[in-house]
Amino acid sequence: MERKKYVIIMAAGSGTRMGADRPKQFLELDGKAILQRTIEVFLEACPGINVITVLPEPFIEYWREYCYKRSFICPQILVKGGITRFHSVRNALAKVPEGAVVAVHDGVRPLVSQKLVAEMFETAQSKPALIPVIPCVDTMKMLHKAKDASGREVLETVDGASVDRSLLYGAQTPQIFHSEVLKAAYGLAYDTAFTDDASVVERYGKSLSYTMGERLNIKITTQEDLLLARAVMSLSEA
Ligand code: C5P
Repeated sequence: MERKKYVIIMAAGSGTRMGADRPKQFLELDGKAILQRTIEVFLEACPGINVITVLPEPFIEYWREYCYKRSFICPQILVKGGITRFHSVRNALAKVPEGAVVAVHDGVRPLVSQKLVAEMFETAQSKPALIPVIPCVDTMKMLHKAKDASGREVLETVDGASVDRSLLYGAQTPQIFHSEVLKAAYGLAYDTAFTDDASVVERYGKSLSYTMGERLNIKITTQEDLLLARAVMSLSEA
């Protein structure tokens, strides 16, 4: 039997790196909040999908009002975020039943294609943990922060570190899991090494399957990312 589809949209970050008056997920991209654009990709790729949106508690009412005013009518379960992304995901998982297939996606990745989402959900019916990755094109350096003689912060090589670029990939979202696997993995105690869901599931002892991600599926983090996203949208509408 087909597993029911869920998506947890992660939007409880404070987005302070952008320097805007609101967290970045609420900024507009071509007339719509980034968060609305992100949710719409999933609604269009998988009609009938169950949407769980994780928000900073002070913005839950703001988001309700935004959806009402913009006639963005979509059944969403709104969940308040936690202190870290890990805690936010854990809060949302309480709303997901066993036996489902659940995607976790950053609310600030609105450029993911419907095609990737639809294909990943299909593949994930038979794979317990499916992660999109892209090969690293830059040469990577392993460095640590240190202080120079005048106390200024500088970067220094980590002794003995060499990084073989051909082995390195960047992990994106959506990361898609069988819900019983993800719920069990999120029973682990928090660790700062948990920077995505795949790292939690791997620590829990499950192996991951990978699929090719998309270069334009950027996480909008800085002003430059927002400019890039606007440029991509204007090109794809031309
Ligand atoms: O902080 P980072 O860039 O890794 O955040 C990735 C995603 O996780 C963002 O969409 C952000 O809104 C979300 N997040 C969250 N709860 C937190 C921290 C981040 O939902 N406590």
